[in-house]
Amino acid sequence: MKKTILLLFIAGLVLASCNHYPEKTYWDYMGEFDMYYSKAYESYSPNPHLPGGMTLQPMPEGTVPRDGEVPYPFKNKLADRKLAGQKLKNPLPKTPENLERGQMMYNIYCAVCHGKDGKGMATADTTTLYKKKLYPIPPADLTTDLVRSYPDGEIYHVITMGSAIMGPHGSQIRPADRWRIVHYIKNGFKVK
Ligand code: HEC
Repeated sequence: MKKTILLLFIAGLVLASCNHYPEKTYWDYMGEFDMYYSKAYESYSPNPHLPGGMTLQPMPEGTVPRDGEVPYPFKNKLADRKLAGQKLKNPLPKTPENLERGQMMYNIYCAVCHGKDGKGMATADTTTLYKKKLYPIPPADLTTDLVRSYPDGEIYHVITMGSAIMGPHGSQIRPADRWRIVHYIKNGFKVK
């Protein structure tokens, strides 16, 4: 009898700890020993011990990302765009693999404005921001002889730094993928 009462009591205790509100933590028994709650500073929390009162410190000057990337030497100016066209050479061969990857990256990053077929404001692609009246500036037609006449480095520059009203995509797309997009555009939006 005593045993049954004890068991019922324990079962009651155990069941009482089940609840419908998982966002509520109720009591914690070990919290006072600092085992549940780390005292470490969070990345974005203020920090009285470090310069500037921030936990996450700015990168030392001149820091470059790994993965073989080098700082881009040209500015967002027309003269630099032309210079990039002369100086930069596409390091990748125009293989079906590179064209396919270029197509994929183009469709992700550029098609939303220039259209899957690259025809800009004249595109048959009804999903572009311009066609949906969500972007007011007519995006350039990238299938023209003019665009195809640009050296690879010039188009690479436009992707990296932007062009007039078009924003830069250097921080979103890796250098090799930018060169693949260039191949895809100059190959007339074909992968063969
Ligand atoms: C948010 C919309 C938008 C996105 C995204 C966008 N562009 Fe543009 N792009 C434009 C507009 C608008 C122009 C034309 C106006 C201008 O030159 O400023 C343009 C111009 C260009 C030009 C220059 C054409 C010329 O004759 O000078 C190239 C090349 C180009 N884009 C390629 C790309 C590529 C490649 C991507 C993807 C990495 C891309 N754009 C993404 C809006 C966009």
